[in-house]
Amino acid sequence: MLIKSRPSWFLSENDATPESIYKQRRDIVKKLGIAAAAVPFASQTHAGLFDVFSSSNDKVTEQDSRMTLEGASSEFSTKGLALTPENKVLTYNNFYEFGTGKGEPAEQAKNFKTTPWTIEITGEVAKPVTLDIADVMKNMKIEERIYRHRCVEAWSMNVPWLGFPLASLLHLVQPTSKAKYVAFETLYDPDQMPGQRGFSSIDYPYVEGLTIAEAMNPLTLMTVGLYGKTLAPQNGAPLRLIVPWKYGFKGIKSIVKIHLLEKQPPTTWNLLAPDEYGFYANVNPNVDHPRWSQASERFIGEGSVFSSVRQETLMFNGYGEQVASLYKNLDLKRNY
Ligand code: MTE
Repeated sequence: MLIKSRPSWFLSENDATPESIYKQRRDIVKKLGIAAAAVPFASQTHAGLFDVFSSSNDKVTEQDSRMTLEGASSEFSTKGLALTPENKVLTYNNFYEFGTGKGEPAEQAKNFKTTPWTIEITGEVAKPVTLDIADVMKNMKIEERIYRHRCVEAWSMNVPWLGFPLASLLHLVQPTSKAKYVAFETLYDPDQMPGQRGFSSIDYPYVEGLTIAEAMNPLTLMTVGLYGKTLAPQNGAPLRLIVPWKYGFKGIKSIVKIHLLEKQPPTTWNLLAPDEYGFYANVNPNVDHPRWSQASERFIGEGSVFSSVRQETLMFNGYGEQVASLYKNLDLKRNY
């Protein structure tokens, strides 16, 4: 991955939203009794399962600006680590479709159109379906999950995401016994995404994948918001993946297709540089990237991103208790 010596933008310390303000605001909303923006599904065994996804004019959210979105707090949230200020999550990004500089996605994705938006779920499933994002937002039970977010470039954040387990979406389409992997695809729209126009070493659309066990793990989050609002375009609106024990490039943004299949699907960074970026890409402080150490990371918190505090990188990014059993047969001294 390209690391620029110094991004072209600079954040003022005063721009940072202190964690305490966000928490106060969130607590006030909860005290006022404003519930999650979504209601739980009816019984999943119900015959008219996808009735809940029939098209509706009653849109929950307009995706062209960030709307308030509340979620029940989750037992899986990271404890004891300060949040990365919201404006840093919004302005220090990797989204190559909108430029390779960290500040470019926020600038170039400003007018990215995310309504209407559909997600197609196909392949080894009993019930393939095309879903409207508005219906997904309305029907999935949204949770807030504070997760460590560790980029392979050795920087990290701690982000209050909003979303729902990928498993709850996959249960609806009923994977067949042949479904061993799940492939994801980002929107391909060169008119809107300047990075997809002209020459690029990336063969767009951006693609990613998980094993079915990883996809079904309760930590794996289909993410629709952060910091109490719907996602900004630069963070992958309207729907992206977050797999907290893996390097951030597995967290594919602006998803339009999910395909279940028997064979391991190709993934963008692995295609580009197989010696540097594996399919599994589990966070591992003991296996260095060929060009830099992964033993520690620059935590992006309060203050300038250039003077970020270094902290130790944790095995599986701190989520070993929940996921180590998935990798009993993998040699963890190798880079996958
Ligand atoms: N998804 C797409 N479609 N294109 C990208 O360039 N970058 C990945 C991932 N998802 C990327 C993507 C990388 S390298 C990281 S670290 C995370 O998004 C960054 O997410 P963030 O900008 O919300 O922090």
